[in-house]
Amino acid sequence: AETGCLSIIVLGASGDLAKKKTFPALFHLYCQGFLPPNEVHIFGYARTKISDDELRNRIRGYLLGERSSSPSEDVSEFLKLVKYVSGSYDSAEGFQLLDKEIAMHEISKSSQEVSCRRLFYLALPPSVYPSVCRMIRKYCMNKSDLGGWTRVVVEKPFGKDLDSAELLSSQIGELFDEPQIYRIDHYLGKELVQNLLVLRFANRFFLPLWNRDNIDNVQIVFREDFGTEGRGGYFDEYGIIRDIIQNHLLQVFCLVAMEKPVSLKPEHIRDEKVKVLQSVLPIKDEEVVLGQYEGYRDDPTVPDQSNTPTFATVILRIHNERWEGVPFILKAGKALNSRKAEIRVQFKDVPGDIFKCEKQGRNEFVIRLQPSEAMYMKLTVKQPGLEMSTVQSELDLSYKQRYQGVMIPEAYERLILDTIRCDQQHFVRRDELKAAWEIFTPLLHRIDNGEMKPTPYQQGSRGPTEADELSAKAGYVQTHGY
Ligand code: BG6
Repeated sequence: AETGCLSIIVLGASGDLAKKKTFPALFHLYCQGFLPPNEVHIFGYARTKISDDELRNRIRGYLLGERSSSPSEDVSEFLKLVKYVSGSYDSAEGFQLLDKEIAMHEISKSSQEVSCRRLFYLALPPSVYPSVCRMIRKYCMNKSDLGGWTRVVVEKPFGKDLDSAELLSSQIGELFDEPQIYRIDHYLGKELVQNLLVLRFANRFFLPLWNRDNIDNVQIVFREDFGTEGRGGYFDEYGIIRDIIQNHLLQVFCLVAMEKPVSLKPEHIRDEKVKVLQSVLPIKDEEVVLGQYEGYRDDPTVPDQSNTPTFATVILRIHNERWEGVPFILKAGKALNSRKAEIRVQFKDVPGDIFKCEKQGRNEFVIRLQPSEAMYMKLTVKQPGLEMSTVQSELDLSYKQRYQGVMIPEAYERLILDTIRCDQQHFVRRDELKAAWEIFTPLLHRIDNGEMKPTPYQQGSRGPTEADELSAKAGYVQTHGY
C-alpha cells in the first residue's frame, strides 16, 4: 500500500450527503486504522461561513447519534483531523486558500520526504462539478516532486440525459484523466452486490444454468417505505428512473447479466459491463409502468402539476446469445409497503413434471441486498412424512446467522477506501455511463415531454396494479407474499 501524506477534501462539507455518508464513512475507516493520524488530514470545504469547531460539532452530533457504539473519545480523536475552509465553488480565492491549507499540512506531516496524495470528494450538486473541477485543476493539484496523486470522487446524478451527461463527462474529462475520476454508485459498495461476481463465476452450480435455456425471467427490485422526505425539490427534477433505476439497478443488472470478465482487473470487468449495456434493446412503451404516490405533490417544493414518476417498472431485454427472450424486470418505488432491495432469478418450469410442482411455484434464486443480507434458493422437496407430496422450501444463507459478529462495511466506507487504494473496479467508467444513458434517454424524454404519465398509487401499497400485471405478463410467477 502507498504511504505518505494523504489529504481528503470534502467539498460540500456542510451538506446532507457529507454529514450522513461521507464523514461517517471516513470516521469508520479511521477507527479501523485505514486513515493513520500521522499521515491523514481531512478538509471540509463549503460556502457557509463557520468555524472548524462548528463543523466538528455538526459531525460529532451526527456520529454520536448514528451508531451509539461509537466511543466519544474516538470521535474526538477523529475530529482533530478535520479542518474547515470556507469559500465559493467558482472563485480562485477560496481554492487558493484551500491549497495553502493543504500544503501547510503536507509540510507539517512530511518530516521525511514523502509523496502527497490529494483526494477531492465532491458532495455537491452536479451543476457545480465543472467549475469545482476547474478550480481544483488550476489551484489544488498535488505538486510534490516525490510523486503522489490527485483524484476526484463524483456523485450521481451525472447529468439528466445522454447529451447532458456527455457534456459533463467531456468538461471533467478535459481536466482529469479517467484514472483520476471516481464516479460513485454506492450500490456497487454493497456486500451482496460485490458478491455477485463471486457467486456467478466461482460456483459450478450456476455456470450451466445462467442463461435463456434455464432462466425464465429476472427481477431487480428496489422498494422504499418512505417518500421523498424533504428532497422533493431535487427529486422532482430527476424522478425514480434517474434516481434509482438508471444507476443503482442498472449496475446490479450488469453484474447479473454480463459475461465472464477476462480477469478481475477493473478494466476487464468494466469492459464486460459496457458490452452487456450495449446489447440492451430499445425499451418498449408497453413494457413500462409509471406511478406517482398520492400526496407526492403536497410537498411545497414539488410543482402542483408534476409528472415525475416516484415508481417505475421497466423491462429490459438483451439481444445476445445468453439472454435473448429473457425479460429483466427492473422495478423501483418510493412510499411503498416495504423497504427492500433484491434480485429474483426465476427458473423455467421442469419439463415433463410428474409432481405438479408448478402449483407450488418455481425454482427461484433470491439475493437480498438489504435489509438483512441473504441469499436463498426456493426449491421443491418432499413434504416430510409418510405421504409422497411436495412442498416449496428454501436453502437459506442469511448473513446474520452465518456470519455472526462480522461487521458488514457500509458501502461508502468501502468505496472511499477503494479510491485511496486506486481500485476503480467498483466505479462507473465514462463509456459505461454513456451506455447507461443511451438505454434510458428516449424513455426519459417521453416522460419529460408529458407523453407518458404516471398512474397514482396509494402510499404504503405495492405500487400501481398495472406493474404486477406487467411482471406477470413477462412471465414472473409470484411465489412469495410481501
Ligand atoms: C440514493 C437515492 O442514491 O439512494 C435515494 O438518491 C435513495 O433516493 C437511496 O433513498 C437509497 O440508498 P440505500 O442504500 O438506502 O438503498
